[in-house]
Amino acid sequence: MRTAVCLAMAAIWGLVSASRLNGDELPLKRQIVRWSAWWLFPAFVLMPLCFVWYLSMIPPERSGLLELGITTIGRGTFTQVTRAALVSVMTSGTVLAIVYFIAYQRPEDFHPGHALAVLAVALAATGSTEYSREMLRKPFVVADHMYSSGVRKSDVDRLNREGYLTHSPWLAPEEKGAVDPSARLDRGRLMFLGQCASCHTPDGYRSMKVLLGDRDRKGIDNLLDTLHRHADDSPYRKFMPPLTGSSEERAALADYLSTLAPQARTRATAR
Ligand code: HEC
Repeated sequence: MRTAVCLAMAAIWGLVSASRLNGDELPLKRQIVRWSAWWLFPAFVLMPLCFVWYLSMIPPERSGLLELGITTIGRGTFTQVTRAALVSVMTSGTVLAIVYFIAYQRPEDFHPGHALAVLAVALAATGSTEYSREMLRKPFVVADHMYSSGVRKSDVDRLNREGYLTHSPWLAPEEKGAVDPSARLDRGRLMFLGQCASCHTPDGYRSMKVLLGDRDRKGIDNLLDTLHRHADDSPYRKFMPPLTGSSEERAALADYLSTLAPQARTRATAR
């Protein structure tokens, strides 16, 4: 799949350079534009084949995301994942059409404007394909082996028993013992960086400030409890990994999240 995409990208950059040739260089332009277009065609044969193979290899639990979607993201018949997949198919088709009908059929007429259009549409195709792929593999980075948080599935029980930060290389050995209250927020932040920050930021991408919404401290505790139990019927199971760690560490995370959630914060200061 990657090879196919790289072939396509190389061909498109070839087209961009060649589109600027003019005048005496027209025969050369004709040659390079056609030659680059030829690099693109195998990619378009390989990509759908690889894509079908890819879909057939996705565990059923994952591919369900394409049909069912994610409760908290996009509602309606088409989920965001499906929409992104559709955009990816349509944009790839557009690239193929421009390249075949203009670049291949009439190479002399292939202008920088055409080349930039191909480039822009190809970037949209890559973006949407990557988006679907990223969504499909959640909450794992390696299906059924390692979660996106870097935690191995086989380590979950041990981390719950012995603590998550106990095994973190980011804490000095002397910091790993009992937590003094002043260090609790720091611990919570480390829990966040270790287990949430691969998908969330405090106030930017998939922002905690926004997603925690109007949860108060109790709401945050409930959320973390659901993430920790990772039950079969948990609505988050399809896209978030289980939260690991001792109950003390999870409480520290809740403390830290409370400093981000607008509701929990105002309540805390009002108290
Ligand atoms: C593998 C990626 C991933 C990880 C790791 C992850 N999340 Fe999420 N989380 C998501 C996605 C995807 C959504 C849905 C976002 C949306 O609705 O836009 C989400 C949604 C949420 C929401 C909103 C839920 C709702 O019901 O509205 C909260 C709160 C949240 N995450 C907290 C956390 C916390 C706390 C952690 C760390 C313990 C965490 N997440 C780890 C991917 C992740």
